Amino acid sequence: MAHDLLVIAIDGPAAAGKGTLARRLANELGLAYLDTGSIYRAVGVSVLKAGQDPADPAAAAAAAQALTPDSLSVLQQDPLLRSEDGGKAASLVAAQPAVRQALLDFQRAFASTPPGDARGAVLDGRDIGTVVCPDARVKLFVTASVEERARRRVKELRERGETVIESVVLQDMKDRDERDQARAVAPLRPADDALVLDTSALDADAAFAAVLAHIGERG
Ligand code: DC
Repeated sequence: MAHDLLVIAIDGPAAAGKGTLARRLANELGLAYLDTGSIYRAVGVSVLKAGQDPADPAAAAAAAQALTPDSLSVLQQDPLLRSEDGGKAASLVAAQPAVRQALLDFQRAFASTPPGDARGAVLDGRDIGTVVCPDARVKLFVTASVEERARRRVKELRERGETVIESVVLQDMKDRDERDQARAVAPLRPADDALVLDTSALDADAAFAAVLAHIGERG
């Protein structure tokens, strides 16, 4: 990894505000951005489209190993990708060690050789600070209460025209947290040197200001 690249690792549970923060940091600091959740979602969607079960280790591993940059960009346009079903499938395939292994090199290559003339990269996900980029200069763990995250997710889905029941989204979110935190490989947890930011009572501007101050302190 080039010495002067700024790599920012952002982890945290679903709908905590990672993506908004990551995109804004990337824009303002001239960094490339990788939403690693979308790669796991692409694998999940690919399994669903093949009529297979995302919880089936062999089907999930085969889909991850078959992923190419071209097939990834096609799957990223699929409406299923951002749906609740896509998120659930992603969380199931993400629990498979062979899937995580297959996606590791792609994520690391992005961080060490960001596209274009970016001076670094922002990656968001669940294991960026702990596994994918343990040497990242800045590590953030963005979280919020599960009720607040479910409320945000309901708003986002309704704005997209989906019909959703709040109690179902809340239960799905709890199940997803449990799966992401309890899995044996690369479970969701803050890196020891991460700044933990609870956005339950913070709007996007306040969260961004807190992170910029932290980056300033880290040089
Ligand atoms: O952030 P998201 O909701 O798009 O992520 C979808 C799923 O992918 C999530 O349940 C956990 C998994 N994931 C992961 O295990 N590791 C990552 N680095 C990113 C996402």
